[in-house]
Amino acid sequence: MGTTKRCLISRAEIARRVAELAERIGRDYAGRDLVMVGVLKGAFIFLADLVRALPFPVIVDFVRLKSYGAGTESAGEIHITKDVEESLKDRDVLIVEDIIDLGLTLDFLRQHLLSHRPRSLKICCLIDKQERREVEVPLDYVGFVVEQGFLVGYGLDCGEQSRTLPEIFVLEKK
Ligand code: IMP
Ligand code: MG
Repeated sequence: MGTTKRCLISRAEIARRVAELAERIGRDYAGRDLVMVGVLKGAFIFLADLVRALPFPVIVDFVRLKSYGAGTESAGEIHITKDVEESLKDRDVLIVEDIIDLGLTLDFLRQHLLSHRPRSLKICCLIDKQERREVEVPLDYVGFVVEQGFLVGYGLDCGEQSRTLPEIFVLEKK
């Protein structure tokens, strides 16, 4: 059985929401020294759009986490394959993630970054996929709430496919 892609969130809707998030973040962090930590690979496009919509420059760093195998199911175990390089101690840190599903990945990353003793730590997540949440994670900025489904595009992939599409699609069984 194959899959098809159905467009769920258009370029215009993404752009509008990113601008709104950037405005809120810009207000909340005005006059502060913000470090944004993007979660590779999925958040790279969202992060790139978000930082360019902010009213001030920020420091950007990345972590790379692996939680899923080649398909659409969680492998259940999370590994850091690339850690932050900036010192986070006493700094305001904002995690930028593509999507939260079970919550295991962001919970793990949050605990990890808290061990660096930042001044503050918040989370900005493009998509809050709510149906399968296992661990509650405090989300400070959310782009879109989606009940269920496997999403691709705008940085999100399925086995490395469809990551560079400019819209967000949901995979559907044919
Ligand atoms: P969690 O630990 O289940 O919250 O997993 C979140 C991670 O799984 C995200 O960082 C994504 O890399 C990946 N993921 C979860 N749902 C999707 C999806 O619908 N499309 C693409 N990747 C997803
Ligand atoms: Mg991810």
